[in-house]
Amino acid sequence: MRATVVVCLLVASCAGVTLPPNFQKCNRNQPDLKECLLKAAQNGISQLTRAYDEVNIPNVHPLNVSELFIGAGVDPVAVDKEFKGCKLDGFHNMNVDKFEFDFEGKTLTIAGTFPEQTLECPDEFTNGTELVTIVLKNVTFSGLFNYEETMKDGKTFINFVSSKINIDPELAVFHFDFFDEVINDNWKEFFNEEMKDDYVDVVNRTLVQLFNNFFSKVSLEEAFD
Ligand SMILES: *[C@@H]1O[C@H](CO)[C@@H](O)[C@H](O)[C@H]1NC(C)=O
Ligand SMILES: *[C@@H]1O[C@H](CO)[C@@H](O)[C@H](O)[C@H]1NC(C)=O
Ligand SMILES: *[C@@H]1O[C@H](CO)[C@@H](O)[C@H](O)[C@H]1NC(C)=O
Ligand SMILES: *[C@@H]1O[C@H](CO)[C@@H](O)[C@H](O)[C@H]1NC(C)=O
Repeated sequence: MRATVVVCLLVASCAGVTLPPNFQKCNRNQPDLKECLLKAAQNGISQLTRAYDEVNIPNVHPLNVSELFIGAGVDPVAVDKEFKGCKLDGFHNMNVDKFEFDFEGKTLTIAGTFPEQTLECPDEFTNGTELVTIVLKNVTFSGLFNYEETMKDGKTFINFVSSKINIDPELAVFHFDFFDEVINDNWKEFFNEEMKDDYVDVVNRTLVQLFNNFFSKVSLEEAFD
């Protein structure tokens, strides 16, 4: 997730708001912009373990996920369940391989891996005294985000409008109050068929919202030198 989010991170200035001194800023014309952004993103993401209210960025350690729907695929188990009040953790540990703005094409491309993403939801059958958990290991992430520009007071503000995302865990471990064994024996099919679309949707909404919160406060001119 919900990660990247990060961006601010990239951005030292954030319109005069005070960020930790180790946040980096890049120049859109510098020859090694790619490397600079990658470093800034990596550095920024790891600092999302607290909120940055000045730029509308929440703490992602963990992120609140209001709703997640699992099911109703077919095999091996027809689970059809809505989870509420979940916490999604692990965004801040992302290893970023790519974080590239294409200012002409108006896209942001992000790729990387999450060593572990953990989703915890209160189990309604126990009134939340027990947790339903899903742990995803070594999650490969790639995303292409398209944005539009608007000018305000001579500054360029961007707003993300569409995206394509893929998420691919090397392993998923489910702890439900039902069918655990069957599900874990068939984790890949279960994740892909019953969960992936909604998980991608949650991550997508989280990231797009984070980006747009941030970039509604910080113009491109402020975000970059
Ligand atoms: C997340 O939910 C908890 C309650 O479970 C709440 O205390 C916290 O403020 C929420 N965080 C955000 C960023 O909404
Ligand atoms: C959960 O709460 C409901 C009412 O709020 C109660 O009727 C039920 O017995 C509770 N279940 C457990 C497992 O505590
Ligand atoms: C995840 O990746 C690490 C490092 O590449 C590896 O040691 C570990 O076995 C992997 N875990 C799983 C569950 O595949
Ligand atoms: C992500 O959300 C945006 C806007 O909410 C939507 O246009 C886009 O299709 C979504 N992408 C994915 C991969 O769900």
